[in-house]
Amino acid sequence: MVDFKAIRDEFPILDQEIHGHPLVYLDSAATSQKPECVIDAEANFYRTINAGVHRGAHELAARSTVAFEEARAKVAKLVGANAAEGEEEIVVTGGATAGLNLLATAFGNASLGRGEEAAKRFALKPGDEIVVSRAEHHSVLLPFQELAYRTGATFKWIDLTEDGRVRTDNLEEVITDRTKVVAVTHVGNTTGAITNVAPIIKRAHEVGAVFILDACQSVPHLKVDFHALDVDFAAWSAHKMYGPTGVGFLYGKREMLEALPPANFGGSMVELAYMDHEAQYMAPPARFEAGTQPVAQVVAAGVAAEWMMNIGMENIEAHEKTISAELLKLGDINGIRILGPRENVDRIGTVAFDVKGVHPHDVGQFIDAQGIAIRVGHHCAQPVHRHFGLYASNRASSGVYNSVADAQALVEAAKGIRPFFGAE
Ligand SMILES: Cc1ncc(COP(=O)(O)O)c(C=O)c1O
Repeated sequence: MVDFKAIRDEFPILDQEIHGHPLVYLDSAATSQKPECVIDAEANFYRTINAGVHRGAHELAARSTVAFEEARAKVAKLVGANAAEGEEEIVVTGGATAGLNLLATAFGNASLGRGEEAAKRFALKPGDEIVVSRAEHHSVLLPFQELAYRTGATFKWIDLTEDGRVRTDNLEEVITDRTKVVAVTHVGNTTGAITNVAPIIKRAHEVGAVFILDACQSVPHLKVDFHALDVDFAAWSAHKMYGPTGVGFLYGKREMLEALPPANFGGSMVELAYMDHEAQYMAPPARFEAGTQPVAQVVAAGVAAEWMMNIGMENIEAHEKTISAELLKLGDINGIRILGPRENVDRIGTVAFDVKGVHPHDVGQFIDAQGIAIRVGHHCAQPVHRHFGLYASNRASSGVYNSVADAQALVEAAKGIRPFFGAE
């Protein structure tokens, strides 16, 4: 039995009052708070072993390299990826956005004929298709839309059901023999809906397309296994999984990473560099990690991954399910509409809602005045909001430190919104 009250006590930031009320943090989909062990790991790295990795012959450099690679292995274990030397499937990035842009840039480079023979599988030309879903965060939508502009490929998307789930009933129509890339979110950052990715991945592979998963909102909340899912690439951020900001990870099947040409160029990614002929690049993951890496943050992200595994991803998922059940009661309040599935099935504790007649910024301030932090705006997912006929909404999102009482506090506060603003 996991003591979630004790887990909450590991988060120093939560022990404070906001506007005279105990802080209720329900904005973990934007960024999660950090447990003491993660904060300590980052600080202790600087106190004891700070040095550049994979360079220098001195002892501190050796120790920081070991710490960096051990962190990569812990993160790999969290998502069921390989970590053995020479078989690494985890690339360090600056975050999910950086990882997704890395892929789009590398595919663009392959389209220009860069890379080895195997890189041709990523090359796009006019007539080819890139498919995303309407549920995407802008960090999937925009890099792949740009890739389409640059290569002349056609940009297409899978639409949503009325309650905001990614449709799977028309995949043969949308994903065709001309589709080369399919990029879909694992969990909608607005709707909280878990995408039924299996048939999408199956269809993508049937037509020979590369499948990319945006795992930003799944890795912190669900047990994920990229091998079992059979995704080709997946990107996510450390700061949403109780780790530091400024760092993220890109998973790639080993053979995919080996075939992919580099996207960023510079130090620590090249075997041989010359003035008068082409450089010879390193094997993955180094090939994709140009420049000095955020070592302290990676080490702390490894601690976060281990901390999550110690609690147990199944336990985290079950705990957050009790919170989503409570948050969904927002939909019972007169004038409040949930944007996403109403039932507590195949969803996480991210619940976006519209308050009829009250602007989201007013809602946010009203709720904040009671010490409760939620997100308002379009959550970097404008097409999702258009699907619901809106341009912005309010979003509550849970983390492992939340209690049912937190969700109840929001629901109670939300009952007062429309009366306070005199909404018709
Ligand atoms: C589903 C999803 N994808 C991608 C991102 C981008 O993550 P980051 O801003 O950490 O790069 C986010 C962040 O909100 C997200 O929720």
